[in-house]
Amino acid sequence: MKQSLFLPSGCRLEFWAAGDGFFRIDIDGKAVWQAMSFASHPEFFTYHHREACEVTIVTNSPDAILWAYAYQPHIVNETGITVLEFSEKEILQRTGAEIEEWLRSDTDRPALHFSPIRHWMNDPVGLCKIGELWHLFYQFHPCGSDWGPMHWGHATSSDLIKWLHMPVFLHPEQNLWRLGATGGAFSGNAFRDRDGRLMFFYTERLPAYDLFKGYREIQKIARPDRWMIKAEGIVTVLEDRPEGVEHDFRDPKVWWDDTAGAYRMVLGASLHGDPAVLLYGSGDLLEWSYLGPLYRAPSHFRAQGARAVECPDFFPIDGKWVLIMGFVGHLEPESGRHNLLYGLVGDFEDDRFIPGSGTLQLLDFGTDFYAMQSFSAAGRQIAFAWLFNWEFRKPVGSPYSGELSLPRELFLDDHDRICMKPAKESESAFTLFLTESLQSAVYNLPAQPVDIRLQGDLSDIEIVATQSGDLSFVVSVREQKLSVRLPQDDGSIQYGVATPILTDLRIIHDRGIIEIFADGCAVAGTRRNYVNTIPDLISIEAIRPTHVSFFVASGDWGE
Ligand code: FRU
Repeated sequence: MKQSLFLPSGCRLEFWAAGDGFFRIDIDGKAVWQAMSFASHPEFFTYHHREACEVTIVTNSPDAILWAYAYQPHIVNETGITVLEFSEKEILQRTGAEIEEWLRSDTDRPALHFSPIRHWMNDPVGLCKIGELWHLFYQFHPCGSDWGPMHWGHATSSDLIKWLHMPVFLHPEQNLWRLGATGGAFSGNAFRDRDGRLMFFYTERLPAYDLFKGYREIQKIARPDRWMIKAEGIVTVLEDRPEGVEHDFRDPKVWWDDTAGAYRMVLGASLHGDPAVLLYGSGDLLEWSYLGPLYRAPSHFRAQGARAVECPDFFPIDGKWVLIMGFVGHLEPESGRHNLLYGLVGDFEDDRFIPGSGTLQLLDFGTDFYAMQSFSAAGRQIAFAWLFNWEFRKPVGSPYSGELSLPRELFLDDHDRICMKPAKESESAFTLFLTESLQSAVYNLPAQPVDIRLQGDLSDIEIVATQSGDLSFVVSVREQKLSVRLPQDDGSIQYGVATPILTDLRIIHDRGIIEIFADGCAVAGTRRNYVNTIPDLISIEAIRPTHVSFFVASGDWGE
């Protein structure tokens, strides 16, 4: 394959390749850059183009190029990357709106929820707002649709819904593919020091040869370059684990603590085998000392398979402190659900967390809402989570894996329950389609993302969505239990939650993603359905009068 491309001055080309093949860039028939042969494992290549001109790209093996894009550093914040897709015939180039259109033409891809263009994504990380721009980073494997050596992917947005895809921000410290290892740049948070300097705290899992034990996790700081496109000045700030912590020691969240007059960090860990959150302190962000466990899970979690806390989130809100944790490996025996996300509300005094009640709040009864990360922006606590639970996967051959929730805003209600409502930004994507009172009715809906809001005495109600007559989802309230069922369920796992008599219920559905909110947003349930994802008929059966409003995705978001 040979193709001419115009490259502007300062343009950078980045790609990952593996397998038999070479790659060459010619100018006026002369090679100016080449990879003479690729290795059998993926490698990262980068080419910096100096003066604007036409180049010819020559490769004998387009299939060996696993992920490629070009960008101009000084304007990529406005344009996003240009994705380069190599085939035997040509290099397809797509930028900005062309990427949006291309992604939207995949009817298996949710329209309003963020997903990577290609390959594997998991946790949202490093979330922050700079000026008017929201930055989303995410755990990314650039060379395959399965979890692998972790990088930080990056996207920006001015409205939290439409995203511009950016260059990969952070790479693992070593070429893990070459070592036949996993690990890399794991999850972490954005943080501004007292002088307002932005940095990212994150975990590096050093080359690991076993997914469950014997690995080493260290904590690092990375700073963004002047364009926010590459991490630089990376330093390791914490290597030693406290006694009782063997290998799970990750996912830092850092803040300045006014009372202590010092920095604080929480880490997810396994402490003597129990899932735990550890507290660290520092005066300068570089030297950290262990202040003790902030939380240790009751022993039944370990007995039920929980190995460690992942992605702890700890933040003040409405006069209290909230701790949010995922217990990896945990299997809840009554329902069969695993890897649930829990929260606790309490006070944080003298470096101790004092929960208001000993009972953990289940944050999402649907399970596909994990590794949630929240951050504070203009007085709001905004959160995203990864919509995945390892139970179901995208069908083999899908171009990508992994989606994020819509942005949610967190708050506490009068009972100090953690509530999550869709952030107001997601509302702007919908317009009112129909509103009426009913007891039972059937609706033909446009094949678009829909937001269904129900109000009234919802003590006995069933909402069934179908696509050409086949089940897409069922949400029901029966005997004070709210539950959701998808066509892929075989009944071995129960996705439900006990509720009081509900008077409000909201269901957002976007090509297979269902996000349910009820009881003033104190109850949420999120799931990803991989079959019959575009319902065209919704039937609602209620035994009492109910008010329903349908909002459908409009404008750009519709068909
Ligand atoms: C949670 C998690 C984190 C870790 C990251 C690795 O999904 O396992 O604990 O940092 O993903 O990709």
